[in-house]
Amino acid sequence: MRKLIAILSFCAVTLSAGAQSLTITHLSETHSMVQLGGKDRYVMLPVQETAQEAVVKVLSNGREVYKANVSLAIDKTDYLVPLDLGEWNGSSILLDITMRQGRGVRRDPSDDVCWSEMTTVPALTYTNKEKKYRPTYHFSPAWGWMNDPNGMVYKDGEWHLFYQYNPYGSFWGNMHWGHAVSKDLIHWEQLGIAIAPDALGDIFSGSAIVDKDNVAGFGKDAIVAMYTSAGDNQTQSIAYSLDNGRTFTKYAGNPVIMAEDTPDFRDPKLFWDPQSKQWKVILAAGQEVQFYSSDNLKDWTYDSSFGLAYGNHNGVWECPDLVRLPFEGKDKYVLILNINPGGPFGGSATQYFVGSYDGKTFKCDDLPTVTRWMDYGKDHYATVTWSNAPDNRTVAIAWMSNWQYANSVPTTQFRSANSVPRDLSLIRKGKEVLLKSTPSPEMEALRGNPVQLALSTAPVELFDTPQRAYELVIRFNLPKKEDVTFVLSNETGEQVVFSYNAAVQTFSMDRRGSGTVKFSKSFAAVTTAPTTVGGKMELRLLVDSASIEAFGEDFCMTNLVFPASPYNILKMYGNTKADVTLYPIAK
Ligand code: FRU
Repeated sequence: MRKLIAILSFCAVTLSAGAQSLTITHLSETHSMVQLGGKDRYVMLPVQETAQEAVVKVLSNGREVYKANVSLAIDKTDYLVPLDLGEWNGSSILLDITMRQGRGVRRDPSDDVCWSEMTTVPALTYTNKEKKYRPTYHFSPAWGWMNDPNGMVYKDGEWHLFYQYNPYGSFWGNMHWGHAVSKDLIHWEQLGIAIAPDALGDIFSGSAIVDKDNVAGFGKDAIVAMYTSAGDNQTQSIAYSLDNGRTFTKYAGNPVIMAEDTPDFRDPKLFWDPQSKQWKVILAAGQEVQFYSSDNLKDWTYDSSFGLAYGNHNGVWECPDLVRLPFEGKDKYVLILNINPGGPFGGSATQYFVGSYDGKTFKCDDLPTVTRWMDYGKDHYATVTWSNAPDNRTVAIAWMSNWQYANSVPTTQFRSANSVPRDLSLIRKGKEVLLKSTPSPEMEALRGNPVQLALSTAPVELFDTPQRAYELVIRFNLPKKEDVTFVLSNETGEQVVFSYNAAVQTFSMDRRGSGTVKFSKSFAAVTTAPTTVGGKMELRLLVDSASIEAFGEDFCMTNLVFPASPYNILKMYGNTKADVTLYPIAK
């Protein structure tokens, strides 16, 4: 029992009560059956991250109803993950488990620690025990792996955030949609699994809308989600919810969109087109995006394609979105497109195209050779916007990681966080029209009492006791042709360097000495954005436990950092003086 308590204290999920009610039979060296005797809802599965994945099948009354790959612990348990059996409550449940390890010299399957440490519990509480790089004000899953934000939709005062989710380990796999809701875009309530894989495949990225006119016939104001069913090939499926996203029912006629000979065919983003008064979907299809239209969300007709030869094609096109934004008295359309690899600093990144859309076809205003990046950091991917956002707002959120190293960042029980939500707008810069991301105004509610700091060349200590989460607004007047550099560092000398370079008109962030960087050869990096340098300038830095998001007049830059302790010293090099407002953030 002592051992069990020690393990659980390392875990995000704790027992509330409950007795072990498992009967385990090893049928062979690699095949075991677990019979569940009690009424507990959750089986706690011991995970060892380095173990090969076992196949865990749930059999209900003798039929396979669910399957997941789980790295069941062999030598030691890193943490426990819950397998929720609530859906099959009342039926006779059997877990059929096949271990994949070549056992070599092992003789006895019951030696594996997973069998002695597997247990059941009636309820879960989330305690977020892994604190070091757990963000303070960015969304991260209570446990498990997260990638793309999915199905974002606003309804009845709630911002819904679904996400690519592996509930059984902190690596990519077993793709489900996880779910969280927020009333203020800051505080998120974790709601666990929303949509689970089925015989059509894993549940890859997609979107959700409110069917106000009940065109699908699922019910007025149903939330209708469309996602990619990732089986042997990729098809698009829909599911609906009549209880504000708490439960979903998959449409019996799935899949609703299929394509011949298109292996990368995914990430449908639904949107309403007021011109044709139809539902549309934009999705990635190889090296282009395709548009489809529908009157009932079930039957879809191909409309058009965009993208071949436009922008960057040095990777797979993924997670597109089309948004309408006002600009100089008219509407323009912005096509957001995520690409991996091919990003400006390696790996994944978000590009965009500004143009027009007539209800059928998107036309880009720029020449095909122009590539525009939405964020100039390394950790801004799978960016999509909320459907049905209030006040005609266009609010986007990005997954704050990069496929180059997402699976190896130094966290254990959870992996990945999202960017802060950002309101999008179009701005003019000379002859160009640029997409601007600004932290959503809700973020300002996070600000604690401001502290004013006058910064010249002497270093300034930010807090008496270093804090992990804060915002800096740095205002300065830079003489023409002058450079300026700001450095955030901690007591061990780990530092992030922010530089404006007048000669080449850029802003850059250097995280090579920012802390733990060696977990991937692609992590240590300097990222650079084009910007206008000189005159009155403002730099906004949103700092959290493991990330820095920089916002200037005409750029943003999102980068992960893993310092040993919080950065607490701000230093400036340059021929100017800066007024700094420091806002502590305590949530
Ligand atoms: C983007 C992506 C999507 C896909 C999902 C799978 O990060 O590759 O294209 O739907 O992740 O998890």
